[in-house]
Amino acid sequence: MLRYFVWTIGCQMNKAESRRIAACLESAGYEEVKSFPEADLVVLNTCVVRQSAEDKVIGTLGLLKGLKDRHPELRILVTGCLVNSDNQELERRFPHVDLLFKPGDYNDLIAWCEGQGAYVEKTSPGYWLAALRASTEGCEVGAASPCAFVPIIQGCDNFCSYCIVPHRRGREVSRPLEEIVSEVSELARLGTKEITLLGQNVDSYGHDLPGHPDLADLLSELSGIHGIVRIRFLTNHPKDVSLKLIDTIASLNKVCEHLELPVQAGDDDILKAMRRGYSAEQYRELVGVIRDRISRISLSTDIIVGFPGETERQFERSLALVEEMRFDVVHVAAYSPRPGTIAWREYRDDVPKEVKKERLSRIEELQTVVAGEINAQLQGSEVEVLVEGRKKGRWFGRTRGNRLVFFEDAGEWKGRLAGVQVTRTSPWALIGKAT
Ligand code: SAH
Ligand code: SF4
Ligand code: F3S
Repeated sequence: MLRYFVWTIGCQMNKAESRRIAACLESAGYEEVKSFPEADLVVLNTCVVRQSAEDKVIGTLGLLKGLKDRHPELRILVTGCLVNSDNQELERRFPHVDLLFKPGDYNDLIAWCEGQGAYVEKTSPGYWLAALRASTEGCEVGAASPCAFVPIIQGCDNFCSYCIVPHRRGREVSRPLEEIVSEVSELARLGTKEITLLGQNVDSYGHDLPGHPDLADLLSELSGIHGIVRIRFLTNHPKDVSLKLIDTIASLNKVCEHLELPVQAGDDDILKAMRRGYSAEQYRELVGVIRDRISRISLSTDIIVGFPGETERQFERSLALVEEMRFDVVHVAAYSPRPGTIAWREYRDDVPKEVKKERLSRIEELQTVVAGEINAQLQGSEVEVLVEGRKKGRWFGRTRGNRLVFFEDAGEWKGRLAGVQVTRTSPWALIGKAT
């Protein structure tokens, strides 16, 4: 039997798509292996959000060239955000690649497999659900992973000036509501307990569908599915979060009190140059409304430091915002110019590398203190954990607010909700015992 290996970097959308790719390959009769040298077919699922990610992809392609020189029968497929609408340059640079296919374009992948003589069962609506089973490590065959990602909208219409994503993933296309409901029902039947709905901007969900259902409508529908105990979604855009959505989160029990709400910067001129469509004050107001209406909401954010022209003073506004907002999690990135984007065309990448690095660590240090304080408040309390599996002899899972929790217990907890009494905390995790 032919063996495949899917290599993945990038965001959760890529991870979700890799599972689907794996499922296509499983239904084409391939068997999964865990490393390049064991594989007859490798799929690189790539990310180019920053230069560092792109470099990793290019490095891996180089490595595979060496492998293919020695084993000419090796087949190499490339997908993800490296893939352009015009692939001539990639084809020239990487002649050892057998197929380039756009993210989410499973038809291209299936057609290629069929070209290799495989038969792929396309009619089965759940053909990629097999992947969720296949990816469940250390678990009996047939049991789904307790947590699953479900893409609900592809692409992005926003064109933030620094961002390559809309250039690579195209315009927004929503999946029909019924299709999502039936996929989640099937997942629930296979044993999935928690779903995370994915999109670059989930607030845009449905605007392109007949009848214009929105994210709140989708959440209400999914809440009715027996077996699903938690629903999450990401990413929200601060300019698009509606009151209807906030109230829906507050009223639906299964929808977790957690939002990923990237602010990107705390200075209005930088936000404008980023084309984010809101001011720092509007962001603060939004967070105020959210915290007012949803008790115990946990908030994550993304910040870019060293955007072109960012002065020390402007950076300090990002720092001050992080201090003031007391986010649960902050992802910081140093600005990286991406060819083809508006910022790349219009601004010079003029903040020195060392300054970017220093700003990045100042945000990280501040956030470590904040997260440490927030978690310390949970000491002694009981949290509800959906157990995902075992790591280093301990059970692990997450709270509704997406906090990582470890606990020791002799029982079998995978896929179950555990009450855990917190005995120790750090900025990154909680440790406790089952109650
Ligand atoms: N749709 C989401 C995620 C986009 S990409 C959103 O709107 O936030 C994930 C994160 O990567 C972004 O939030 C941003 O912080 C970061 N990012 C995107 N482009 C970048 C660039 N050119 N340089 C540095 N960080 C970038
Ligand atoms: Fe990129 Fe902005 Fe779209 Fe997010 S909303 S994917 S940052 S363009
Ligand atoms: Fe990377 Fe594309 Fe996701 S650039 S972050 S894989 S949308």
